Amino acid sequence: MTLQITPLPSAFGAEVLGLDPTVVPDGRTCSELRAAFDEYGLLVFRDAALDRRMQTLLTELVRGEEDLSDEKIAADAARQSSFYISNKIEDAAAPFGRLMWHSDGMWSDHPFEVISLYGEAVEPPVPPTRFASTTRAWDTLPAELRERVEHASAVQVPGPESFTHRRGDDDGDLVQPVRDREYSVTKPVATRHPRTGRTLLFVSQQMTSHVDGLPPEESEALLDALFEHMYAPENLLEHDWHERDLVVWDNLACQHARPDVQLDSSVRTLRKVGWPLPPMASKQAVGSYRRIAATPS
Ligand SMILES: [Fe+2]
Repeated sequence: MTLQITPLPSAFGAEVLGLDPTVVPDGRTCSELRAAFDEYGLLVFRDAALDRRMQTLLTELVRGEEDLSDEKIAADAARQSSFYISNKIEDAAAPFGRLMWHSDGMWSDHPFEVISLYGEAVEPPVPPTRFASTTRAWDTLPAELRERVEHASAVQVPGPESFTHRRGDDDGDLVQPVRDREYSVTKPVATRHPRTGRTLLFVSQQMTSHVDGLPPEESEALLDALFEHMYAPENLLEHDWHERDLVVWDNLACQHARPDVQLDSSVRTLRKVGWPLPPMASKQAVGSYRRIAATPS
């Protein structure tokens, strides 16, 4: 298999051409995919008709997993067999509403390192998924801001219930997951990527409660400055969905968001795979979702 890896016209991300999604990639192809994933942070495959098993294999492969045997991949795929982002499938995740910027599980000790979404049923136009680079955000952070946060820690929670003041001029309903209890974790704002060693700007619009040890107003002003930098247009890319698109991204090196999705608008069913799966003991229950509507002015 000869791959062609073309950078997207944005600060990060690349498109992969030439992958045969019906066969397990050979050793050289695996190496090329892993290198591209770590360099670009996000890979797009178009018109890649693939089932959940092959999606799972590619998702694990780019993180460097060596055991890609049929047996293991089938078992891992089966554990996520009902994992969908959809406005049409019953019990799918985030079925409606707008998602502010976040990385999945950044409020836990076991965030996914890799996430993939596959366009299983899509009737364009549907709302896109947007991505921001946390590594580029750190690398380009102005010195004054960097000095203020390089030894700071921040408290992460699922959100966004307490952060509706951060919604800006987008008044779409926000999605609030209803969980079995409260969760939070405190991590360095400058967090090291476990695989690439790059520094991540580890705060987000949806999930960062506050900078540890700062008075609330000072914390929020500092976070505002960090968000303005990280979510500036030159640090973003947007993916417009079509059927058979596969997007695989580094959930630590990138954050994602989406505009409002309506239950009664056109079909937007994205098959999701996350990796690695959290230990069973720390699996977090999401019972349902509710809306946080914009406050009438
Ligand atoms: Fe998410």
